[in-house]
Amino acid sequence: MSANLPCRLGVLVSGSGTNLQAIIDRIEAGDLCAEIACVISNKADAFALTRAARHGIPVVVHENAGFPERQSYDATTVEILRSHKVDLVILAGFMRILTDVMVNAFPSAIMNIHPALLPSFQGLHAQQQAIDYGVRYSGCTVHFVDCGTDTGPIILQSVVPVEQDDTEATLSARIQKAEHHTFAAAIKLVVEGKIQVIGRKVRISA
Ligand code: GRF
Repeated sequence: MSANLPCRLGVLVSGSGTNLQAIIDRIEAGDLCAEIACVISNKADAFALTRAARHGIPVVVHENAGFPERQSYDATTVEILRSHKVDLVILAGFMRILTDVMVNAFPSAIMNIHPALLPSFQGLHAQQQAIDYGVRYSGCTVHFVDCGTDTGPIILQSVVPVEQDDTEATLSARIQKAEHHTFAAAIKLVVEGKIQVIGRKVRISA
């Protein structure tokens, strides 16, 4: 990412949008030199859309029904992102796996947050996977997106303890608190041009 600021973000969501809210709050606090160009949801009833609208951010409902092929859905998403002149794509609880169409359109410019310390517990229900495995610590990972599932180069991680009596809900809530500052911090590094991707390693400059 160039250091030409502000960076235009396109945020993809499917659900409640607490990570979106954290990003909005950091931008409005003047701590993140970026602008959310659009929020795109594949779910019409995602509360994230309400959050975006409250802050005057353009929203697009882009449902996947009617797109039998995942690639054609992604091609349309790319068109929407381009029409909003998006530089950096943020997956903030977007519950779809991207195809090469999206990944190749935004090389090293799509970021995701996953609720576990990757490469452990990829995919769905990562918090329950961590509880079932019996780990003492889990957390969250912000990574660039490649064509795999939760496999791209790791930018930042935060560690969260797993308590003995945790349920998926209690662990998810603890991890989400960490997600909110970790995601914003990683986006800040990227928009400020402090990130270099070398193979699957991410180098952060001061
Ligand atoms: C987060 O737990 C994130 O790790 C996962 O989806 C959830 C989104 O939550 N990818 P929210 O919509 O940001 O509240």
